[in-house]
Amino acid sequence: DIGCGYGASTIMMAQAFPTASFVGYDYHADSITEARTRAQAAGLGDRVRFEVASADSFAGDGYDLVTTFDALHDMGDPVGAAQHVRRSLADTGTWMVVEPMAGDHVQDNLNPVGRAYYGFSTLLCTPASLSQDVGLALGTQAGPARIRDVVTQGGFTRFAKVAETPFNQVFEIRP
Ligand SMILES: C[S@@+](CC[C@H](N)C(=O)[O-])C[C@H]1O[C@@H](n2cnc3c(N)ncnc32)[C@H](O)[C@@H]1O
Repeated sequence: DIGCGYGASTIMMAQAFPTASFVGYDYHADSITEARTRAQAAGLGDRVRFEVASADSFAGDGYDLVTTFDALHDMGDPVGAAQHVRRSLADTGTWMVVEPMAGDHVQDNLNPVGRAYYGFSTLLCTPASLSQDVGLALGTQAGPARIRDVVTQGGFTRFAKVAETPFNQVFEIRP
């Protein structure tokens, strides 16, 4: 689970899939400390661990599933992250990317949710990306076409939007 933050999604996945093991990675050390505390409190034992690592250099290979929840657009180098996920994933594996709901054009996003997201993007997500190497600054409202472009540059060939809510959209990405 790349860009796992406090590990909320990692812990939920471990609870939902009791025979699977999960690793959460985030480049922010204090978040990883909190994630470890939460996993211990949830009693998940050694099926879940958390490590400080950047999206373009986390450890391991042959993963069946890589997930990125609301984090790809925060990264400085999402193309580099996509290349690294591609290297780390089993050939039969899937990368699930959850991103804020957005269309491909500004006019698609001129609604209450899009307006709030443009605010978060300006004050938080875009500065976070710009503070890192490359600084691609996708922002929260990149839209499916731009996300597809990023992961295709990273070496993936299959891309589908598989779910959406008013707040999020889910992409299934495969080698
Ligand atoms: C909006 S938070 C989402 C956290 C978590 N996935 C969740 O849904 O609660 C974005 C996360 O991406 C992490 N992040 C940003 N750039 C990163 C990078 N290059 N490598 C790893 N993590 C990164 C941040 O530290 C932050 O925890």
